[in-house]
Amino acid sequence: MSETKFERYTVTTALPYANGPVHIGHLAGVYVPADIYVRYLRAQKRDVVFIGGSDEHGVPITIKARNEGVTPQAIVDKYHLMIKKSFEDFGISFDVYSRTSSPLHHQTASDFFAKLLHDGKFIEKSSSQYFDAEANMFLADRYITGTCPRCGFEKAYGDQCESCGSTLSATDLINPKSALSGNPPEMKETKHWFLPLEDYQKWLEEWILVGHKKDWKTNVYGQVKSWLDSGLQPRAVTRDLDWGVKVPVADAVGKVLYVWFDAPIGYISATKELTPDWEKYWKDEKTRLIHFIGKDNIVFHCIIFPAMLKAEGSYIVPENVPANEFLNLEGDKISTSRNWAVWLHEYLIDFPEKQDVLRYVLTANAPETKDNDFTWKDFQQRNNSELVAVLGNFVNRALVLTSKYFSGKVPPRNQLTEYDQKVLDELKDFPERIASQLETFHFREALKETMNLARLGNKYLADTEPWKVVKTDISRVETILNIALQIVGNLTIVGNPFLPFSMERLRKMVGLTETEWRFSGDTDILKAGQQLNEASLLFEQIEDSAVQAQIDKLAQTKLSNEQQTKTVEPQKETISFDDFSKMDLRVGTILEAELVPKTKKLLKLKIDTGIDKRTVVSGIAEYYKPEEIVGRQVVILVNLAPRPLRGIESQGMILMAADSKGKLTFVAPEEKVDEGSEVR
Ligand code: 2FM
Ligand code: ZN
Repeated sequence: MSETKFERYTVTTALPYANGPVHIGHLAGVYVPADIYVRYLRAQKRDVVFIGGSDEHGVPITIKARNEGVTPQAIVDKYHLMIKKSFEDFGISFDVYSRTSSPLHHQTASDFFAKLLHDGKFIEKSSSQYFDAEANMFLADRYITGTCPRCGFEKAYGDQCESCGSTLSATDLINPKSALSGNPPEMKETKHWFLPLEDYQKWLEEWILVGHKKDWKTNVYGQVKSWLDSGLQPRAVTRDLDWGVKVPVADAVGKVLYVWFDAPIGYISATKELTPDWEKYWKDEKTRLIHFIGKDNIVFHCIIFPAMLKAEGSYIVPENVPANEFLNLEGDKISTSRNWAVWLHEYLIDFPEKQDVLRYVLTANAPETKDNDFTWKDFQQRNNSELVAVLGNFVNRALVLTSKYFSGKVPPRNQLTEYDQKVLDELKDFPERIASQLETFHFREALKETMNLARLGNKYLADTEPWKVVKTDISRVETILNIALQIVGNLTIVGNPFLPFSMERLRKMVGLTETEWRFSGDTDILKAGQQLNEASLLFEQIEDSAVQAQIDKLAQTKLSNEQQTKTVEPQKETISFDDFSKMDLRVGTILEAELVPKTKKLLKLKIDTGIDKRTVVSGIAEYYKPEEIVGRQVVILVNLAPRPLRGIESQGMILMAADSKGKLTFVAPEEKVDEGSEVR
């Protein structure tokens, strides 16, 4: 099998935030592919540690605790256990599943920071940060929301825009607001430690852009390249918060490590928890470090964490970061806050013991190169026409016929036809092909090949028709079923990484115990004369009613979301007529409209205001196509101070009606009026 210069593997999976249960998006993007990979490595008898754990710091957790009136510790205790159980239930075979609130992690992260500080790897800087005077708190990351400067989404966070996926700094946001009081924040001086990422720019370019151009996924490589092309800058690694790993400096009161500084160190702490021999998994060049993550984590795992490891000096850096894109659900982005998800613990209530079906569907439809959509119809279709009709049907026919004709004893292989030989030759090639896809993180392809092996078996039985031949030539039937059973035996090994629960059942049925890869490709994996155990169905049909129930449940969620968001904003404070009159509102006509380059939401409009013809940038591209709105009349606030948006000076603002979901529609005169007509 594939040669490797590596002696061992450290495989990590993104540590999920312990502020909610896990859903199918988590499984599809990170944990199922990682588990397939690790099960395969173990089958190859490679030395591997499989690391997971909960990310228990960060602002989303403290915000949730605040909203629920409980401590952050109570939140993480609840969800850590829940997440851990879901992973166990779905067969994600971690060697350790740890948590970042553990004392061992606090010590490890703290020591890591202290070493970098001691070695002069940080810059200490005082800077102005957003501060909420009412809550008496600095507003780190998600404590601040505002309009994304990249795409115009109005509910972007201080660290990230969930609409366009950009990583942001709080000060990038337009119209920032405190998530605590809703007030615009003040600026206040505070001291923080920064990692000067620019010092690692050259090294990162050499390592990734030159060294990994060929073997890293293009989505990962592309994101890294774009970060490097825009030039790296110092990045704060501490925050003013009271939940997290305390900054190990005497006067750093009320300061903790930035969650993205401590979380990846969590991989190291978890390995320490697993084995006293942890250093060889992190500090030996012969160890292959692989991070499985989702695309929103790319910069942290390909730039920031590697720079931290390099700065520390004694660690290896990842050999690959096979990040996936996102999985959507029935055409919509998965969202915890909108409850738009298939939660793993709920799935198992509705589909008990069908873990493998979900693992299968999420792998067959994995978002490996682009965002993909999970639909319940597709789930049903793949179960019924692939797992049941191809794999389950083949295995069942082979076992049932063996039981019927030979009392469940593996028959001997007699005289071979050319066709028999061809099928045996093909069988021998499968494991190698599947392995080479797995080695290179092509899990969909690997699964497809595995199913092709079952297809080969099905076709062989359909072509040779042992149920007919049995009437005339029992010796021929012996050969046919022997060959079919060799395919079944091989499936128990190559199918195991993907479908561990079903393959374990199948191994029991055929009396195999080995999952080692070297036993695959063996055309005598089941020996003639061996007694098989009773066969039972590997997979069952999923009925229309079962998927309809899921579709109805989602429809219900959509409905209640709509009802909830129909709430109107409370009335703002009273203003005088004079205040109102300060606004100079006019009717204008749109003369030209075009999309602002590299944005999804902004249109650049040329408007005839009656007074002049001016440029206005407006965040309406999601709702109106440029060509549809030329010639339309709109209401424009003409005396708003001009402001730059994406390098364009916007001279005024178009009035839009915004519903509670943020959907925008023009406010316009009922009949055509002269440009410049006042609105009052
Ligand atoms: O995006 C997230 O869910 C983060 N909690 C992932 C952290 S990965 C690692 F660095 F710990
Ligand atoms: Zn955005």
